[in-house]
Amino acid sequence: MFEKFSFKTGKTDEPSLASHKVNKIPVHVAIIMDGNGRWAKRRGLPRIAGHREAMKTIKRVTKEADRLGIKVLTLYAFSTENWKRPKPEVDFLMKLPQQFLNSYLNELIEQNVQVRTMGDLSRLPSHTLQAVEHAVARTQKNTGLILNFALNYGSHLEIVRAMKAIIQEVGDNRLDAEAVTEEVVARHLMSPALPDPDLLIRTGGEVRLSNFMLWQLAYTELYFSDEYWPDFNEQSLQKAVSIFASRQRRYGGLMEGSEEN
Ligand code: FPP
Repeated sequence: MFEKFSFKTGKTDEPSLASHKVNKIPVHVAIIMDGNGRWAKRRGLPRIAGHREAMKTIKRVTKEADRLGIKVLTLYAFSTENWKRPKPEVDFLMKLPQQFLNSYLNELIEQNVQVRTMGDLSRLPSHTLQAVEHAVARTQKNTGLILNFALNYGSHLEIVRAMKAIIQEVGDNRLDAEAVTEEVVARHLMSPALPDPDLLIRTGGEVRLSNFMLWQLAYTELYFSDEYWPDFNEQSLQKAVSIFASRQRRYGGLMEGSEEN
């Protein structure tokens, strides 16, 4: 379905990208949307005001990603560690998918977006689960941008689950231990149908991965922005993509044309 590591030209001639010899648009962009609480605090507002504003950014960024020709946008919406937050904040965060999808689902359908999820959905409250399952079902046949929400997602949980599933298959003689390859592991992760992210963006000024797609990010280009997520906009995404386009990806090999000695 996806050609791994090949970049397709964006839908438009983006002026900020034109300066690069090759107009490389990442196929899969993953984003750690950080800084909502600080955005709100700076304005003397409760943290939840930042999360509310975050949804507007999701809408903007989804549209812009699609316009640029990005094929998959994965958003870290709730981590397996986020349950440690005060209950009122967790309760509020669990209402966001419903709120977001109530207001934007029709628009996403018009945009031909496919909503998907990644994570352990079994722990989500039923109102959250219903909202996301409804959106996934309603957009299943769409063929445009994949908007993949990481919900109750954590890489450690993902890897442990993959290991357990593989051990089970080996135990049941459905899989030979010798046949466990990188591809087999990848197939047992929570993103089996997606190419690995080409670009990871983290907003909010922190420089860490916070248990996000650790396997899949092995050769991903990392981009850290000081902007708080509610401030991140179309230009911010264009800048990240432009910096991505200027980078040389070597996947552990040598640069094209460089001498071996
Ligand atoms: C980080 O900001 C953000 C989050 C923990 C959650 C963001 C989640 C959403 C916007 C939910 C959207 C979900 C859907 C399905 C629409 P922070 O609170 O850690 O900010 P801080 O670092 O400034 O405290």
